[in-house]
Amino acid sequence: MDGQPELIAAAVTRLRAGGLVAFPTETVYGLGADALNEAAVKRVFEVKGRPGHNPLIVHVSGEEMAKQVALTWPEDAHRLAERFWPGPLSIIVPKNGRVPGIVTGGGPNVAVRCPSHPLTLALLEAFGGGLVGPSANVSGFVSPTTAAHVREAFDERDVLVLDGGPCAGGIESTVVSVVGGKARVLRSGLIDAAVIGEVLGRVVECADTGTISATPNASTPAESPGQLSSHYAPRAKAVLVEAGEIEAALRNVQGECVVIAREETDAAAHSPESNWHARHVIRMPRDARGYARRLYAALREADAMHPTLIVIQMPPDEKVDPVWRAVRDRLKRATV
Ligand code: TXA
Ligand code: MG
Repeated sequence: MDGQPELIAAAVTRLRAGGLVAFPTETVYGLGADALNEAAVKRVFEVKGRPGHNPLIVHVSGEEMAKQVALTWPEDAHRLAERFWPGPLSIIVPKNGRVPGIVTGGGPNVAVRCPSHPLTLALLEAFGGGLVGPSANVSGFVSPTTAAHVREAFDERDVLVLDGGPCAGGIESTVVSVVGGKARVLRSGLIDAAVIGEVLGRVVECADTGTISATPNASTPAESPGQLSSHYAPRAKAVLVEAGEIEAALRNVQGECVVIAREETDAAAHSPESNWHARHVIRMPRDARGYARRLYAALREADAMHPTLIVIQMPPDEKVDPVWRAVRDRLKRATV
C-alpha cells in the first residue's frame, strides 16, 4: 500500500500521545488506544458513550505481546492462539498489574486477540504494545465494517482512521474464556464452540446468551460476560420474524418499511409474489458467512432510508451452519 509506512508512523505518534486510532480487522473496525494508558482508554469510553463496566479487548501482535498483559498464559490459551491467531478469536485470561482496571471494567480478567489484517498487524508491531479496540461505533449502534462507517461516527480531530478496506468477516470475534481451567464461549462468532472444543480436546460450553445492562448494576458481577442486551441496533425500529410472518409484520404500518431477506431459491422465486415484494427489499446472501459479511452494511442501508419499520427475515439456525448462531445473536440484539 502506497504511503503505508508514513501512515503507520503517524498512527503510532498519535497513540503514543494518548490519542485514538481506528484500525481495520478481519471482523469489524476497532477504536484503538494504548491499552496501558489509563487516560487514553478513558477517552475511548467517552467518545463511544460506552458504559464503564463493559470491558475492552486488548489487541496484540501475537502470543508474546499477549503475555505482557496476562498474569498467566494457560496451556488452553496457547493452544487456541496457536491454532486461530491471527484470527477472529478473543481469549480471556487473568490480567496482570500493568493493565489499568478501566480496560477490564474493574474485573480481574482481560480479553486478548491478535487480529488478521496486515495493516493492523504492522501497526501493533510498530507501536510495540497492546491496543484496546472496541468496535469503532457509538455504543449500542451498528458495528462498522468500512472506514467510511467509522468516519460517520467520530470527529476527525478525535480519531485517526486507517482505511484497510471492507472487513472480510463482518461480525465481531468469538470471545472465549479459559479462566480457571474452564473453557466457555461468551460471545459467538465465526469460530464456533465445537471447533474450539476439538482443539482443546473437550466439550466447550457456549454461554453466549448472557447479557449485562446498559447501566451499571450492583448485582452484576464485574467478571460477567459483557454483552449488552440491546446492541448492534439501527436507529429505526426493527423486528425479526419468520419468513411466513413478513407480510403480517408489514400490515397496517404507516410509512416506509424496509425488508431484509435472504436471496430466494429458484423455487421460491417462481412462487406467487407476496405483497411485501413490492416494498423496499435488501437481499442478503444465502450462505452464513456471506450474510455475516454483509449484515452491518445492510442494517445501515436500511436505517439510512429512515423507515418506520425494518422487518428482518429470520435466517436458518446453527444446525444448518454454526455461523448462523452468531448471526442470529447479532440480529436478536439489533431488534430488542
Ligand atoms: O472482533 C472484535 O472483537 C472487534 C474487533 C475490533 O477486534 N472488537 C469488539 O470489541 O467487538 P467490543 O468492545 O465491541 O466487544 C468486546 C466484547 C464485549 O462483549 C465485552 O463485554 C467482551 O468482549 N469482553 C471484553 N473483555 C472481557 C472480559 N475481560 N471479560 C468478559 N467479557 C469481556
Ligand atoms: Mg461492539
